[in-house]
Amino acid sequence: MSDILKFPKDFYFGSATSATQSEGTFEGDGKGQDIWGKWFELEPEKFYNEVGPYKTTTMYKHYKEDIQLLKQTGHNSFRTSISWARLFPEGHGEVNEKAVAYYRDYFETLRENDIEPFVNLFHFDMPAALQDIGGWENRKVVDYFKEYAKTCFELFGDVVKKWFTFNEPIVHVEMGYLHQYHYPMKVDAALAVKVGYHTALASAYAIKEFKKLKTGGKIGIVLNLSPAYPRSNNEADLKAAEIAEAFQNKSFLDPAIKGEFNPLLIELIKKHDLMPDYDEKDLDVIKENTVDFLGVNYYQPVRVKARDSVPNPDAPFLPTYYFDIYDMPGKKMNPYRGWEIYEKGIYDIALNIKNDYGNIEWMITENGMGVQDEDRFKKDGMIEDDYRIDFYKGHLKWLHKGIQEGSNCVGYQVWTPIDCWSWLNAYKNRYGLIELDLETQERTIKKSGYWFKDLHDNNGFEL
Ligand code: NOJ
Repeated sequence: MSDILKFPKDFYFGSATSATQSEGTFEGDGKGQDIWGKWFELEPEKFYNEVGPYKTTTMYKHYKEDIQLLKQTGHNSFRTSISWARLFPEGHGEVNEKAVAYYRDYFETLRENDIEPFVNLFHFDMPAALQDIGGWENRKVVDYFKEYAKTCFELFGDVVKKWFTFNEPIVHVEMGYLHQYHYPMKVDAALAVKVGYHTALASAYAIKEFKKLKTGGKIGIVLNLSPAYPRSNNEADLKAAEIAEAFQNKSFLDPAIKGEFNPLLIELIKKHDLMPDYDEKDLDVIKENTVDFLGVNYYQPVRVKARDSVPNPDAPFLPTYYFDIYDMPGKKMNPYRGWEIYEKGIYDIALNIKNDYGNIEWMITENGMGVQDEDRFKKDGMIEDDYRIDFYKGHLKWLHKGIQEGSNCVGYQVWTPIDCWSWLNAYKNRYGLIELDLETQERTIKKSGYWFKDLHDNNGFEL
C-alpha cells in the first residue's frame, strides 16, 4: 500500500491571482489607469502577441461563477489583490464607490462559499496618476499607499481577515529599475535602492495602520524566495551566493520579519554609494511594524557562480556585477517553459524560515508550472496535465517534510485558478487549474483541477 501524506488540520489549500491579471483592466466602472494599461497604450509591441491587460479572464464580470469553479477545484482559500487604481482612480482622494461595491460582494461571496479570502494591496499595479509623479521614487507615494491601505482595512476589514501589503516587491524594483522588464523601464541603481526602501517603508506604514484599526486578523507580505545555491564550493562562488541571497531574498525578508535591513546589503549599498535619503523616524516605523505572517512564492532557485571578470566599471551597477546565474548542468527542467524544477527548494525555504526567521507562521502563496501551447495535451475536451500534478506532488512532498520537522507552514496555494494574462508574456504560459478559452471565455477544469479537489478533500494525497 502506498503512503498517504496528510497535512495539518485546517491547512489552507487554494490558488492565487491578481487584480490586473484577472479582472479585465478596462471594464470601466470608474477604474483609473494603472501602469500596465498605460504602458500597453504606449508600446503594445512589448507584450507577447500584442495582448495587453485589456484581455483577461474578466473576473470582474464573472467572479460569482468563478467562485463556484473554485469550490469545484477544492479551494478553502484564495488570494487576489485590490486594484489601487480601481479603488482610487487618481491614486488618492476620492474613492470609487463602484469598486467598493464590487470588492465587498466579491469577498463576501468567497466567505459565503467557505473560501477564506487573502487580499493583497499591491501586485505590480501602480496607478498611472501616481507614476506620473514618480511612483515609488517619490516619498509622497508612501503616504498615499498608507491612505489606500487604511481605506481598505476600514472598508473590508470585517470580511477580510488575512491581508498582504505587497506581492513580490523585489520584482518592481529589479524589473522596473534595473532590467527594463517593467514600466518605467529605467536602469538606475540609486533609484532602484530608493524604490526598494520606499516600498519597505510603505509596507511598514500599512501594517501600522492595520494594527491601529484593530479590525482583527493578520497582515503579512508575499515574497518570491529563490534560494541561491553556489555553483561550487570554492570561496568566490560561496561569497557570490551569499550576495545573491541578500539581494534576491533578504532585501525584503529582513525588514519585514526582523524590522531592519540586511547588513550585507547595506554594506554593498554603501560601497557603491547608493544610500537613499532616510529619516530615523521612518526606520523606527520599520522596526516596530513587522509582519504577522509570511507568504512565499516559490518557482525555482538560482544557481550562482562568481563572475570571472568585473564588468565595465562605468556601466550602471547591477546585482549581477557580482555573480552570474549559472546554468547548472544536469538540473531538472520544465520542458514546456524552460524554468528549473527543484522541489527540495521548498523544504530549504521551510527550514530557513524556521531557523533564521523565528519560525514565523507562513504559507506558500504561489507555486506552479507554466506550459506553452497547452492545447496539445487536450484529450476528449479536457487538458490532461499529469506533469502539473507531478509538479505539485513533488513540491508538496518536500513541504510536508519541512512541516514534519517543525516549520510553521499553514497552507499551499498554487498559481493560478484560471489560465491568466501574465504581464509581458500575456498568454504564452498557461498555469491554471482551469483552462480558459480566450475567445469564448469558456472555462474547463483540467485534470489537475480535479486532482486538487481530492487533495483538499483528503487533506493530503497518495504518493
Ligand atoms: C509571480 C507573480 O506574482 C505573478 O503575477 C506571475 O504571473 C507569476 N509569478 C507567474 O510568473
